[in-house]
Amino acid sequence: MSDSVKKVALLGADGKLGPAVLDTLVAKGFQVTVLKRASSKSEDTYPKGVEVVRIQDDFPIDVVANNLSGQDAMIVTIKGSQTEIQYRLAQACVKAGVKRLIPADFGSCDSSSPKAQELVPLFKRKTELRDQLMDLGKDSKSFSWTSLVCGHFFDWSLEFLHIYLKERKADILDDGETKWSASTLSRIAEATVRILQNLDATSNKMIYIQSFCISQNQVIKAYEKATGSSWEVTKYDSEKYEKEEKRKADDGDLEAVENLVWLLGALDANWESKENFAMKTLGLEDEDMHAAVEEVVKRESKQ
Ligand SMILES: NC(=O)c1ccc[n+]([C@@H]2O[C@H](COP(=O)([O-])OP(=O)(O)OC[C@H]3O[C@@H](n4cnc5c(N)ncnc54)[C@H](OP(=O)(O)O)[C@@H]3O)[C@@H](O)[C@H]2O)c1
Repeated sequence: MSDSVKKVALLGADGKLGPAVLDTLVAKGFQVTVLKRASSKSEDTYPKGVEVVRIQDDFPIDVVANNLSGQDAMIVTIKGSQTEIQYRLAQACVKAGVKRLIPADFGSCDSSSPKAQELVPLFKRKTELRDQLMDLGKDSKSFSWTSLVCGHFFDWSLEFLHIYLKERKADILDDGETKWSASTLSRIAEATVRILQNLDATSNKMIYIQSFCISQNQVIKAYEKATGSSWEVTKYDSEKYEKEEKRKADDGDLEAVENLVWLLGALDANWESKENFAMKTLGLEDEDMHAAVEEVVKRESKQ
């Protein structure tokens, strides 16, 4: 497989992660086509040179394949739970000769982990999609895929991380010393683009990256430093917390599902010892967690 991706299609350019990926693709000189559903209400305000193609909402394989003709790669940043659309996109990629698909994994945790699958159905669905991609990859000489696992988005929703900036409060699990990998949106975007620049090394694999690997206590200390104040910390026993949130999640409580994702991403998400930890492969180095926290505090204080 030759390392020569020039034309990239992106679905999900208007989500949480999509804009960072789009900006990085454009900055690195890729020719980008944004795909969107016909009913999309998002404005087409993308950087100069980005093409936009609207496709009927159910993304029929033939229609998508026609629109993907000539594309080298496809990146998907819609919700990870939207696996049916993604499988149709993958089949369209095979038909159109697209070399690499990066599906909407970008997980807080490792979707292949049995514990993650048991606690949160989303991770089972991501794994089922990956199994389908593996089959497509086996059957096709030209098609391949890469799933990127990045840990919690570090600079997106602080509430999702149980960090309450205005109130100077945070929650931690157990003693707060367990290390977890986390990534800023810009790091995830950079890693995504580097996959396209390293096709051979990343082919048909789930790979892991991070901005840094930190403990909850280290994160809180960084927020205390950046805000010049001491924070109130509430500790939860993880076993009890997990049981209670799982029961609520099973009863349909969506906040409890998010709490379980938070727990998994804080206790079962240290990628540094993973076989496919791809920082070296992608030429990436750890970032400065304190600088990332300062950026977040600066951004949030403007709002
Ligand atoms: N690690 C973490 O902490 C973390 C946190 C959040 C998300 N994620 C992962 O990041 C990835 C992206 O998630 P996200 O939360 O950024 O996504 P998101 O914000 O929900 O994505 C919204 C985008 O998806 C498009 N979209 C929504 N429904 C669609 C449909 N039916 N057909 C076609 N396009 C549709 C929207 O386009 P229009 O509305 O314009 O049509 C918009 O561009 C996922 O893999 C997710 O699991 C990870």
